[in-house]
Amino acid sequence: MIDQAQKLREIARDAAVRPPSPLIQRVSSKRCVSIAVTSGKGGVGKTTLSLVLASSLAKLQKKVLLMDADLGLANLHILLGLAPRFNLGHLVAGECGMDDIIIEAAPGVYLAPGASGLERLANLDAGRLERLRMDFMGLEDRYDYLIMDTGAGISSAVTGFARNADLVLLVMTLDPSSLADAYAMVKVLYEKGSTNIAVAVNMAANEREGRARFDDLNKLVVKFLKKPVELYAILPNDSEILRLGRKQIHLVGQGGGNKFYGITSLLARRICGAGKIGADSGFFDRLFKGMR
Ligand SMILES: Nc1ncnc2c1ncn2[C@@H]1O[C@H](COP(=O)(O)OP(=O)(O)O)[C@@H](O)[C@H]1O
Ligand SMILES: [Mg+2]
Repeated sequence: MIDQAQKLREIARDAAVRPPSPLIQRVSSKRCVSIAVTSGKGGVGKTTLSLVLASSLAKLQKKVLLMDADLGLANLHILLGLAPRFNLGHLVAGECGMDDIIIEAAPGVYLAPGASGLERLANLDAGRLERLRMDFMGLEDRYDYLIMDTGAGISSAVTGFARNADLVLLVMTLDPSSLADAYAMVKVLYEKGSTNIAVAVNMAANEREGRARFDDLNKLVVKFLKKPVELYAILPNDSEILRLGRKQIHLVGQGGGNKFYGITSLLARRICGAGKIGADSGFFDRLFKGMR
């Protein structure tokens, strides 16, 4: 019988998940590490990866706030089988407080649901914006990780989250249009001053093809933008993940038997092993300053 450790070793060999990166040497801080899961193109697995990564970090005893930052298609709560009464939109509209919206979705995983309405932040008066800034900043000491499931594309609504995050996890697939869209995303994020971009190739038929697609991206990035991105994970096309997604099953808390979960768990270890990522100021401080 193959024991758990051997299984993990095999997964590690296959997975192209390497040890902690010098890319993200970290300033020590009590604030949570913010990770924006984003993509140039929709339907590449951002929501799925956000959920499974949050679950994997929670299994490492980390406290995770999962924020639905997809303004167009906020669906994390649906995948978690939750029907929240209040969401971030209500908070911004002043219809509820921060504590009313955050739900413990699974042990260690807390959800801030539904982002539609967040775009109204930009139109609030200075006093109200400052109150919200304080409310959001208050969250940063309460969690180890903030994972934001953003929308796709290079609109300012998406890049606002990504450019201010400590780490951008850019998800792409083998699809040729995903390559062009991922490149466009890197370009915009670099222009906006983002430095920590980690790539996850999802739905890869095998590791070789996943790596080749990453190399295609990185070659373009190095040639035209002069600063490489880093490969963080190659995730397989997995019929079980598809089945769970279609059935809208609670992904958090699912068993760790398959390769997708195994690699995501190694990705979580890698992120934890990197220590604290990023800048002196907190994510929400940066986000709100950008709105002034
Ligand atoms: N590795 C994978 N293997 C198979 N299906 C996947 C995988 N990752 C995501 N999916 C499926 O692809 C679809 C889109 O994923 P989703 O996470 O909603 O993408 P996004 O948030 O980027 O739009 C869902 O049906 C999901 O179950
Ligand atoms: Mg999504």
